Amino acid sequence: MTTVLQVNNINKVYNGKSNFQALTNVSFSVDNGEFIGIMGPSGSGKTTLLNLVSTIDRPTSGEILINGEIPHNLKKDKLARFRRKELGFVFQDFNLLDTLTIEENIMLPLTLERTDSKEINRRIGNISKKLGIDNILNKRTYEVSGGQKQRAAMARAIIHQPSLLLADEPTGNLDSKSSKDVMQTMQTINKKEKTTMLMVTHDSYAASFCHRVIFIKDGKLYNEIYRGDNQKLFFQQILDVLSMLGGDSNDFSAVRL
Ligand SMILES: Nc1ncnc2c1ncn2[C@@H]1O[C@H](COP(=O)(O)OP(=O)(O)OP(=O)(O)O)[C@@H](O)[C@H]1O
Ligand SMILES: [Mg+2]
Repeated sequence: MTTVLQVNNINKVYNGKSNFQALTNVSFSVDNGEFIGIMGPSGSGKTTLLNLVSTIDRPTSGEILINGEIPHNLKKDKLARFRRKELGFVFQDFNLLDTLTIEENIMLPLTLERTDSKEINRRIGNISKKLGIDNILNKRTYEVSGGQKQRAAMARAIIHQPSLLLADEPTGNLDSKSSKDVMQTMQTINKKEKTTMLMVTHDSYAASFCHRVIFIKDGKLYNEIYRGDNQKLFFQQILDVLSMLGGDSNDFSAVRL
């Protein structure tokens, strides 16, 4: 197994009127092909962690390695290139461009890399079939459902075959049926494309699709649990850890299984 992501003893302090330590001594690593969930109460530091991994922000101390490289040490241009090449992003609100068709949205990362058009078409055909969106490629974003939008966003996030797919609450704006579709899609991508994934979620059902869920509380690692063969059992175990974690139970979305 090769390690795709290594988080080594990260601390993050936000400097403001008063300093706030959002993450304390966080370490973990993610192997190639793993699908990891990050959970924790509101304000526990999940987005902070994701922003550090995605290189949008830098740690106060400690280091993050992606495929053995420390992206935070790269100069601005190289960092932008690294991010475009190695990372894929999926957001709660899809972030698709409304003026473009679904197909144009999906090909964006390849257009930016000046990939030749035959190769673009080949990859779009391939991915859109796998994700069940080959019939909506010519539609605009306002002509498709939320679940279809998120699957299109996912196609865009993986079309350049990134080393690591980062998702912040990908099911946050979806009803339970669409959430299920999107999570099954993520699972398919993970299995078929062997894409390594890191997903922040409040949704225990979504998290039950992961191989492993890492819990954080008050900026520190609290626990991690591995899924066996039984998704329902894993879902229950996730709920159990969350109830031990405490916090406001309203932070977590309702039971869906
Ligand atoms: N730019 C910032 N400046 C100062 N404090 C910040 C900043 N961003 C986040 N924080 C604080 O750091 C802590 C962690 O925030 P973060 O956004 O990582 O939480 P989260 O786990 O993603 O929460 P949620 O589930 O609500 O999205 C919070 O207490 C927050 O108020
Ligand atoms: Mg957050």
